[in-house]
Amino acid sequence: MKNAKKTKPFFRFKNAFLYNGNVLDANNFSKEFCDLIVTSPPYNVGIEYTSNNDVLSYDDYLKFTQKWISNCFDWTKDSGRLILNIPLDKNKGGQKSVGADITAIAQKAGWKYHSTIIWNEGNISRRTAWGSFMSASAPYVIAPVELILVLYKKEWKKIGGSKISDITKKDFMDWTNGVWVFNGESKKRIGHPAPFPRELPYRAIKLFSYVDDIVFDPFSGSGTTALVAAMNKRIGVGLDIDEGYCNLAKNRISQELNTLNLGDSNEKNISIKIA
Ligand SMILES: C[S@@+](CC[C@H](N)C(=O)[O-])C[C@H]1O[C@@H](n2cnc3c(N)ncnc32)[C@H](O)[C@@H]1O
Repeated sequence: MKNAKKTKPFFRFKNAFLYNGNVLDANNFSKEFCDLIVTSPPYNVGIEYTSNNDVLSYDDYLKFTQKWISNCFDWTKDSGRLILNIPLDKNKGGQKSVGADITAIAQKAGWKYHSTIIWNEGNISRRTAWGSFMSASAPYVIAPVELILVLYKKEWKKIGGSKISDITKKDFMDWTNGVWVFNGESKKRIGHPAPFPRELPYRAIKLFSYVDDIVFDPFSGSGTTALVAAMNKRIGVGLDIDEGYCNLAKNRISQELNTLNLGDSNEKNISIKIA
């Protein structure tokens, strides 16, 4: 991985790299180092993360979004893609069209819109209130789904890379139907307050990247994306602001990758130049 980052990784094992840092620091990574971003940012819903405040004003949250999404644009190759898991809307503390607002911000930052996948998390109920129960006075409508935006930098058609796709016919047919149904991940099992299930980066990686591509998650948390990427013949790169979550990801990745025989493509000597 040429010039991926200007500092040493927090951890590297086989094809998985973790960095401990802030996504708002534009100098963190070299321009155009990654092929695919698969990520889920903090949702600003009051989750008790260790190193970031998840109760910003909505305006500040959108400003934060604008900055990180723009840094990610610079860090992505021209034929790169951004697969972004975000809420559809927010209904606590005032109704907000989060999905629509983030889509607009991404486009303003230069990302082009391809489509939106609806993720129906079978095991999640977002229902906290009915508003005016059985009355038209002020009922609440809540969709128990999340969005997975599919965005790209310049051209949708991928150029460069290994040109090797390793998705099965069945998975391709199933996953190009933009309603995805699979369960969310257990916080307790993973030990992180908001992990996504590995099925999410798995589908995104198989559908939208070639073998040997660099797959980046700027909000890596427990390291799900980097882990799944490295398990599937890609190079996984994670960044998280919290050292504790980086340690969690480190343990998870080293344990899981250690038990797998990943073959030659995961034993490559990938060098990261330090500035
Ligand atoms: C929704 S969680 C991502 C979880 C991840 N998808 C997983 O499967 O574990 C958001 C993560 O973003 C990290 N984070 C918050 N602000 C950040 C920032 N400014 N820069 C980098 N990481 C940040 C948090 O520490 C948290 O781990």
